[in-house]
Amino acid sequence: MLPNYGNPEYWKKLYEEQQGKTYDWLEGYKTLKPIIKTLINPTSKILILGCGNAELSEEMYLDGFHNIENIDISEAVIQQMASRCHHMPEMKWKIMDVRDLEYPSNFFDIAIDKGTIDALLCGTNSYLSVARMTKEVQRVLKVGGVYMVVSLGVCDSKLEHLESKHLYWETYYPDIDEESDIVHDVYLCKKKEGADKVCEDNWHEIEAKFNR
Ligand SMILES: C[S@@+](CC[C@H](N)C(=O)[O-])C[C@H]1O[C@@H](n2cnc3c(N)ncnc32)[C@H](O)[C@@H]1O
Repeated sequence: MLPNYGNPEYWKKLYEEQQGKTYDWLEGYKTLKPIIKTLINPTSKILILGCGNAELSEEMYLDGFHNIENIDISEAVIQQMASRCHHMPEMKWKIMDVRDLEYPSNFFDIAIDKGTIDALLCGTNSYLSVARMTKEVQRVLKVGGVYMVVSLGVCDSKLEHLESKHLYWETYYPDIDEESDIVHDVYLCKKKEGADKVCEDNWHEIEAKFNR
């Protein structure tokens, strides 16, 4: 049986056991870097959703991207990573639920989700959880900002979540170099002008559909 990736208690226990270790799910910065570099520059505001103990953020920081906010629901992992990265002062670590972001609207240039959508999909009321996350991600992105999803699963399997009626962004796949070692799906969702209004107009329908 699969571990219960959708349960915050699973992550709490795992990170308490993994004290001092790091692990990047799905892909690391090495394979994602060519895509990320086409989307942002060193002044960009970056949100890492469900950061875990991945080295992605540190590697991005060392590569010149300093305005990084890392969030995770697990207090243990946020404490560990804040301590591990104390010499990277511009990078922040916060305990936060991706479904209820404590940031202003139109704030980030990019939100990176590596495996977090997959974790939510293993939880209870998973479709509503994912819809709440995408609603919040769209809100905190600037118009033209990008939600980058790196996910497990067969090709296109996340499109039904990324093309929900409350979302108004252009969903596309990045160009991936033939030499690339990427093996997982990468989706890019670029927020369009008017997205906040589309969400306001359609959210109740989506919430009612999944909130049963
Ligand atoms: C599959 S791991 C991916 C970790 C990291 N992004 C990586 O690529 O290695 C999923 C992460 O999402 C976090 N998570 C799960 N549910 C969450 C929620 N509702 N809000 C914030 N983080 C959550 C877990 O604690 C875990 O660190």
